This record gives sequence, structure tokens and C-alpha cells, in this order.
Amino acid sequence: MPQPAVDDSASVQPFRTEPVSFVRRGGRMTDGQERGWSELAPFYVIPVERDAAVTSVRPGTEIVPEQIYGRSAPLIVEIGSGQGHAIVHAAGERPDADFLAVEVFVAGLARTMLDAERAGVSNLRLVEANAPEVLEHLLPEASVDELWIFFPDPWHKSKHTKRRLVAPPFPALAARVLRDGGILRLATDWEDYARQMRHVLGEADDFEPMFDGDWGERFEGRIMTAFERKGLAKGRDIRDLAYRRSPRG
Ligand SMILES: C[S@@+](CC[C@H](N)C(=O)[O-])C[C@H]1O[C@@H](n2cnc3c(N)ncnc32)[C@H](O)[C@@H]1O
Repeated sequence: MPQPAVDDSASVQPFRTEPVSFVRRGGRMTDGQERGWSELAPFYVIPVERDAAVTSVRPGTEIVPEQIYGRSAPLIVEIGSGQGHAIVHAAGERPDADFLAVEVFVAGLARTMLDAERAGVSNLRLVEANAPEVLEHLLPEASVDELWIFFPDPWHKSKHTKRRLVAPPFPALAARVLRDGGILRLATDWEDYARQMRHVLGEADDFEPMFDGDWGERFEGRIMTAFERKGLAKGRDIRDLAYRRSPRG
């Protein structure tokens, strides 16, 4: 069953030492989403053993993707999948690959499962957990072909920028799970965050940019989501970045 919506941040719960990049939204699930959760979660949601916090991942609880998906196939992971529009669409377009949505927003996960079922998508699974812990503890080393983060929360006030997901600790976590030659794809409508992403990844020895010039091309596998539409409506430019994981030494 979904956990009750609570603020899972370090500011109100003492058992995380680092700030997290989300405040769990209190949005209640609709009746349809509740029903979707109870009927569809046994197939779509990967059970996670918790540490102290409700969205944590207990160290030493790594999954075996081949057992979960019942086959060996390229694995594409989206962090912060929101309502699931991008990943459900992508999973439908790429039946040859397996997809994992990582999100803490339970109503979004419920919506993702309902849409996946409606679209007949079975190469998708969901994890309700804090993404850095998923990268550190749940996914095996070198198990992921692509890691996507589209429109992460920008935390634009300067007192909050320490909550941003793509910050100095992030490249090592991404590099751990990506295979040699695997791809990290990022998109944001927030210029200052785009610059931070480019700076942080530019400093990381394990990643090579896949673009010339200032920014990458729009990733053609990324469909328009509400967050992108909102950014465009406010006159903001959308910036894509892509990096290749260097071969392990
Ligand atoms: C601004 S929304 C974008 C959603 C989606 N990518 C899109 O483009 O529509 C960011 C999402 O990331 C999720 N999120 C933020 N930090 C997270 C974390 N550490 N682990 C998992 N999900 C996270 C939030 O709950 C939110 O749904």
C-alpha cells in the first residue's frame, strides 16, 4: 500500500543527514488512482526494503533486473518521472528495452500505472523511493543503459539550491549504475540549474559530453510534459544535456 504523504525532508525528520530534493506532495489519490494502486502495484511496483525514512532504501537490498523483467534487455531509468507521461510513452515505443520509473509522489506513480496498463505497456516497473538511494543501493553497478532526469525540481531560491538533485555528489552515483558507454540525459527549463548541471558533469571524470557548443540537441525520445509546457508558456528556454559514461579503468 502507498505510504501516507508526508514531508520526508531532513528539516522535519531528523534521520536523514542530507537534504532531499523533494517535499512529498500531500495530494490525495483519486478513487481511480487508489483502485489502480491496489490492482496494479503487485505487477508494476518493485517492493523496497526501507531504512529509517519512508522513501529510503535499505543498504544491501540490490535488485536483479533480469529477474524482475524476466529477460535480459537494455535498462532505461527515469528519475522523477512525475505523472509518467514520458516514460510510459517511451516504454511503448521501445518494447526491446526495459524501463524503471523512480518517483516519490504516489499519486503520480498511480497515474503512471493506470496509463501503462491502458497502453498495454509491460516492460515498465516503478520504484517509490528517493533516487540517490536507488542509485546507491537498489540498482546494481553497471546495470543501466540510460539514466534520464527531465525537469527536476529547480529549487530556484538561493537558500534552497542545496536541495538540487544534480549537484556534486550526483555524478558518482550515476556513474556507478551506468554501464560503460551508457548515457545520462538531462533537461530543464531553469537556466541557472542547466548551468549547474553542465558545471557538475563537466567536472566529473566519468562523463564525456555528447554535444558540441553550449547545449545539447533536444532528445527526440523525450515527449512534451506539463512541466515543459509550463516552462515554455513562461517564456523560458528548454535546455537538454547528454553525457556518455566513460569506460571503467
Ligand atoms: C518538476 S517534476 C517533473 C516530472 C517529470 N519529469 C516531468 O517532466 O513531467 C519533478 C519530479 O521529481 C520528483 N523527485 C524529486 N526529487 C526526487 C527524488 N530524490 N527521488 C525521486 N523522485 C524525486 C518529484 O516528486 C517530482 O514529481
